[in-house]
Amino acid sequence: MDKRYYTDLHCHILPGVDDGSPNMEETIKMLEKAYSMGVRNIIATPHYACGDKNASTDRLMELRAKVEIEAKKISKHFNISLGNELLWSPDVVQAVKKGDAFTMAGTRYILVEFSPNDSYQTIYNGLRSFILEGYIPIAAHIERYEALQRKMERVRELIDLGAYIQVNIGSMVGGMLDANAKYLKKLFNQGMIHFFASDAHDSTYRTCRFQECIDHIKKKVDVDYLAAVLYDNPALLYDNKYI
Ligand SMILES: [Fe+2]
Repeated sequence: MDKRYYTDLHCHILPGVDDGSPNMEETIKMLEKAYSMGVRNIIATPHYACGDKNASTDRLMELRAKVEIEAKKISKHFNISLGNELLWSPDVVQAVKKGDAFTMAGTRYILVEFSPNDSYQTIYNGLRSFILEGYIPIAAHIERYEALQRKMERVRELIDLGAYIQVNIGSMVGGMLDANAKYLKKLFNQGMIHFFASDAHDSTYRTCRFQECIDHIKKKVDVDYLAAVLYDNPALLYDNKYI
């Protein structure tokens, strides 16, 4: 894998399917922004929630192909794969098993989000449900979950269970007084964050700021581990291997 470039494995770049990009025009702006931030691999992860009106898998595959055509106009090295950001509910494991929702880039990895106020037990049992079915769960933006804030031992327990941890890279950036950013840096330096992503929803406000954030955090974290998170871990995911 080319170590100058990044993988963004959580973003809402497919047009018109969730609360992310509303149309192809905005999607192209998001692609340009991601490219300028050093991203060359994207896994598009539209929201999927059981009981909601989700875009069909055929529609998502068709959109991925269209977005990849636009990405290739920017660079032939710009790749778009498909996943879903699965909102946790007990039924969502079956939805993935049945093929109604996507794993990450065709691998055993899945991206699952919980509600900010879900209990620790809900998060633990949810991740365990995927593991028991042979999936490798990535817990999306764990900084949002009250049950995991300043609870390092719980994050450790989830990793020991077999889950991986994703943080939105923008959440790592914060001043001395930002307790959450401080906590995330601590988690990071203990090897307890496995993936960074943008969770971009548009090209301006909730956007991809990979390079900006990396420039900010690289003096404050273990640089060897930073390289592992930015390059090695996404490569292992694409190869469907454990980290
Ligand atoms: Fe998201």
